[in-house]
Amino acid sequence: MPNISPPRTPAEWEAYYHLRYAVLRQPWGQPEGSERAEDDAHPTTTHALLLGPDGQALGVGRLHPSADQQGQVRFMAVHPQAQGQGVGRQVLEYLEAAARQQGLTEIVLHARQLAVPFYERLGYAVVAPSHTLFGTVPHFLMRKDL
Ligand SMILES: CC(C)(COP(=O)(O)OP(=O)(O)OC[C@H]1O[C@@H](n2cnc3c(N)ncnc32)[C@H](O)[C@@H]1OP(=O)(O)O)[C@@H](O)C(=O)NCCC(=O)NCCS
Repeated sequence: MPNISPPRTPAEWEAYYHLRYAVLRQPWGQPEGSERAEDDAHPTTTHALLLGPDGQALGVGRLHPSADQQGQVRFMAVHPQAQGQGVGRQVLEYLEAAARQQGLTEIVLHARQLAVPFYERLGYAVVAPSHTLFGTVPHFLMRKDL
């Protein structure tokens, strides 16, 4: 079984946020702290951290309830050296399982253009173009029935 759980210790929370920052914010020159969201600490937000054999963070993601019976996945990130090896799939499937347990019937997300084929492979469909992050990263609204 993959070693996926919410971060449990201060060191795991640090690894969780560091991977988020390194993959999703640092390459665009964003300041440290920009990887954190106000509702991260909300009790209904579900966090997933996949740890490698040496305890390093390989994959992260989070889920929050966004509307009636609907959840939203955000902040999916896989360590560059672990991409393309099934880590993203495991993190997303963990969040989908959590969504089902919470009684949610649909997941939506805003996918970076480069990640759209990954989400399509996992059963998501593009609904419409959405925002452009940092002026350069086009996103697409995608959804999946659970
Ligand atoms: C997008 C991302 C989360 C995917 O995670 P990953 O671990 O690399 O993907 P996986 O290895 O789990 O891929 C799962 C499946 O999707 C496919 N897939 C993944 N990326 C793909 C791509 N760019 N094009 C086509 N297929 C892709 C894989 O081939 C695999 O298919 P398979 O089950 O038939 O083998 C990861 O690459 C990443 O962090 N990228 C940079 C940050 C980012 O864009 N995050 C998403 C923000 S919305």
